Amino acid sequence: LPQRYYYFPTIDSTNAEAARLARAGAPAGTLCCADAQSAGRGRLDRRWISPPGRHLYFSAVLRPAISPRYAAQLTLMAGLAIGEALNDLGVTGLAIKWPNDILLDGRKVAGILTEMAAQPERVDHVIVGVGVNVHGGAADFPAGLNVPPATLDEHTGRRWDRAELLAAIVRAIARWDQRYADGGFAAIREPWLARSQICGKRVAIHLESGSFTGCATDLDADGFLLVIADGEQVARRVLAGDVNLLSE
Ligand code: BTN
Repeated sequence: LPQRYYYFPTIDSTNAEAARLARAGAPAGTLCCADAQSAGRGRLDRRWISPPGRHLYFSAVLRPAISPRYAAQLTLMAGLAIGEALNDLGVTGLAIKWPNDILLDGRKVAGILTEMAAQPERVDHVIVGVGVNVHGGAADFPAGLNVPPATLDEHTGRRWDRAELLAAIVRAIARWDQRYADGGFAAIREPWLARSQICGKRVAIHLESGSFTGCATDLDADGFLLVIADGEQVARRVLAGDVNLLSE
């Protein structure tokens, strides 16, 4: 559970602030939360539009004893935790879209941005940043988003309390982070698979080096997504990039 808690009416990005605190020695469990972000960021250098009074934006400092190559497992851990927290709060229609999107009936309600500072074989810190769409509706978001947006209020027809939501999600992250510390990725893999909507589905994978389509089959022991590309027999391992589900 949080060791230190910082709240900002406005900040550039809670991920940026958490990284500054981590570099200055902040312990694991330090939490930064903001009402608004002026430079909120998403994966792949995208912007995360972060107006005040509406959504949840927070970042946690973690200091896991893992090799840098496994840092992406923390994104999966956090996604599982967010999915479980929302499910426990009675939200229906949830799915995790590999690696970092939480969907409600196929629309994105939350995203995770994991950023790491590491030496070759040692992680100094990992920042796990979470954005959850809470108030307002899909019509308030810019057009042309990669995945159509959802908000908790609109999806459930009631008004959520952001502080309660934060507390529930942070408790779930602390719980799964502990299981991960104790059991490694093996403790995450099965429950994650049960919540994900990806395995067995046709997908398009977009990497910096190009795109391909195929069938997502499994998560391997390290958390890589295994995809059998069209026309191939052996699965490729995918750990970064963008995944789109294709209609059957
Ligand atoms: C994505 O889906 O691309 C990830 C979005 C992550 C957004 C959150 S909001 C809190 C934290 N601070 C940031 O600048 N980004 C993350």
